[in-house]
Amino acid sequence: MSIDWDNLGFDYIKTPYRYISVWKDGQWDEGKLTEDNTLNIHEGSAALHYGQQCFEGLKAYRCEDGSINLFRIDENSKRMNRSARHLLMAEVPEEKFIQAVEEVVKANEEFVPPYGSGATLYIRPLLIGIGEGIGVHSAPEFLFTVFCMPVGAYFKGGLTPTNFVVSDYDRAAPHGTGSIKVGGNYAASLLPGEKAKEKHFSDCIYLDPTTHTKIEEVGSANFFGITKDDRFITPLSPSILPSITKYSLLYLAEHRLGMEVVEEDVYLDSLSKFKEAGACGTAAVISPIGGIQTFDEFHVFYSETEVGPVTQKLYNELTGIQFGDVPAPDGWIRNIK
Ligand code: PLP
Ligand code: COI
Repeated sequence: MSIDWDNLGFDYIKTPYRYISVWKDGQWDEGKLTEDNTLNIHEGSAALHYGQQCFEGLKAYRCEDGSINLFRIDENSKRMNRSARHLLMAEVPEEKFIQAVEEVVKANEEFVPPYGSGATLYIRPLLIGIGEGIGVHSAPEFLFTVFCMPVGAYFKGGLTPTNFVVSDYDRAAPHGTGSIKVGGNYAASLLPGEKAKEKHFSDCIYLDPTTHTKIEEVGSANFFGITKDDRFITPLSPSILPSITKYSLLYLAEHRLGMEVVEEDVYLDSLSKFKEAGACGTAAVISPIGGIQTFDEFHVFYSETEVGPVTQKLYNELTGIQFGDVPAPDGWIRNIK
């Protein structure tokens, strides 16, 4: 199979191997790699009926010396286990999670895009409730799988700004599941996302579900803004996903770029204080936001066509660390030879 590394989108590509392990009678089996990319599960599986499932997303990066970096994988493991606890699912021990990801990356090594292409290997760990059942209760068994595929930009422009639209739907309830990575949040975002795309926006921006006055996040990424006095600001809310990329940027903005960083309410009627804005996440990396269509105006940040200088610096620092070109803070990188 020949892959055009420079022109990948964010689409499923079958790679040869995936990891699969089952939890039954109180314990995980050893787990194994398989070439079968289908799952054969019970028709009564709680994942299918009641959304008892959670997932993660992380990437493997090809370095200049040919080795491969994993970025903050322990944080993905911790977040998946937080999701699992919330949904009464068996947790996956951190060592098992890391071993599964490493085995999958190594087994599919030829699909890790070359250094310099900008593409990466996207890794999707998934935990689902399986086994016989029909009542609304936790599943008797769980299946943990990890598969991967090479990807390019999630939002079409990559580092070129794209536009977003404020949604009048909510993706999560005030005391619901917004802060964990469960499929239900994404099911709720399908219709609003589709409506946004029909109007040629990249995606929607959700507001806080209680007052609908504050920016929460994008359906697949967190929001950040750079103020005119160079502060890095990102929403603080119990119903957004705690983005590993966002927390990395908070650290880098403060410790590498010397900026003041703040997690606080971001009111929709205060957008004019930002000179730049972006969406950040594993898939999104840093995607500059050109403009936001609110209920009554189209607000342009830096430019609809050019990335702003602070966003560019943050992008260089983050991706430099991920691809091994810039020294990483302690514990952020796991290098696979
Ligand atoms: N918010 C949502 C809803 C997401 O799906 C993602 C993607 O994982 C993010 C934010 C970004 O999180 P992270 O940086 O950990 O990938
Ligand atoms: C990620 O960035 O890893 C995500 O999970 C976002 C999206 C593909 C759901």
